Amino acid sequence: MTIIVTGGAGFIGSNFIFHMLNKYPDYRIICLDCLTYAGNLSTLAKVMDNPNFRFVKASITDREAVYKLFEEEHPDMIVNFAAESHVDRSIENPEVFLDTNIKGTAVLMDACRKYGITRYHQVSTDEVYGDLPLDRPDLFFTEETPIHTSSPYSSSKAGADLLVQAYHRTYGLPVTISRCSNNYGPYHFPEKLIPLMIINALHDKPLPVYGKGENVRDWLYVEDHCKAIDLIIHNGRVGEVYNIGGHNEMTNIDIVKIICRELGKPESLITYVADRKGHDMRYAIDPTKIHNELGWLPETKFANGIKKTIQWYLDHKEWWETIISGEYENYYEKMYGNR
Ligand code: NAD
Ligand code: TYD
Repeated sequence: MTIIVTGGAGFIGSNFIFHMLNKYPDYRIICLDCLTYAGNLSTLAKVMDNPNFRFVKASITDREAVYKLFEEEHPDMIVNFAAESHVDRSIENPEVFLDTNIKGTAVLMDACRKYGITRYHQVSTDEVYGDLPLDRPDLFFTEETPIHTSSPYSSSKAGADLLVQAYHRTYGLPVTISRCSNNYGPYHFPEKLIPLMIINALHDKPLPVYGKGENVRDWLYVEDHCKAIDLIIHNGRVGEVYNIGGHNEMTNIDIVKIICRELGKPESLITYVADRKGHDMRYAIDPTKIHNELGWLPETKFANGIKKTIQWYLDHKEWWETIISGEYENYYEKMYGNR
């Protein structure tokens, strides 16, 4: 079995590669990643010498490079994590989101049609469903919830999902799609809520909470997401969408307070800043389908997962110190300087 994992130098893709190499020692895993600001080769250092692993630096939008890789490796499956993934960046500059998230997906699927594969899996997001109101805790996203996006990021992911479904219906491509809630865990890029708050708190810097901090996300430990994708690519039904989430809804402010408590830092570091434009209020997944069909359930409770995550950031300072000393400083100043 040969699997191309795109975006494998990023947060979830790298965790998925570690999971797969560990669980299936006879699989060949090829990481295709162009190493944007969010991709980090040092993340993959521990598997670089594994004879069943290969890293290829190229963009999923580069048709020639993608076709060449298919000719060399004859992959059985593609798992597409590669994406521009940060909502705030999509509000500043939507274009690259359309190129990577939509056109890149089309290039990968064209290669699948041309060379043949047994499965194309699209890693999507619960954000394609838009948001739920805070005063309706009885509502959840199911696979039947209409697509109703808010940000350029979620719109680009929804556009990709529609293309994936079109390639299935029109060309018979054997596809699956997963739509997961917010992940947290090791190798999470420091621009996202949880690592940003951990790293700022460690430096006694202000903790910038958007709006009132009452927005709700359904947090899932990254390993549980990887296990769900593993189940879907092996046992999921072709043409189907599977929602992934753990009934673990929390407000942003509660998350930030937990991080302060775990690190022994004062809540006075919390600073309320201007809200995100078009900020989604609440995401909440109904995971009944993946539970009933594939037996998936989240294994890591948030109380334990957040402790493990904080400890990981304490133990891997060199990983994130390198990141936050580069282009990230300009990004931080631009996004938070006058907020
Ligand atoms: P990330 O930003 O940490 O990593 C993205 C990776 O994709 C990076 O390694 C980057 O270099 C690579 N990449 C970007 N553009 C590329 C291109 N044109 N060609 C090749 N590689 C490219 O993202 P993440 O948080 O790991 O998210 C991975 C996937 O999971 C995305 O598709 C995202 O939409 C989806 N997702 C993320 C979450 C979450 O909470 N982070 C939740 C649900 C779904
Ligand atoms: P984020 O990690 O960017 O994920 P997403 O927007 O895809 O859910 O943000 C999670 C939540 O945290 C979201 O409601 C926005 C909020 N947030 C802040 O309040 N402050 C911050 O500095 C960041 C990055 C996010």
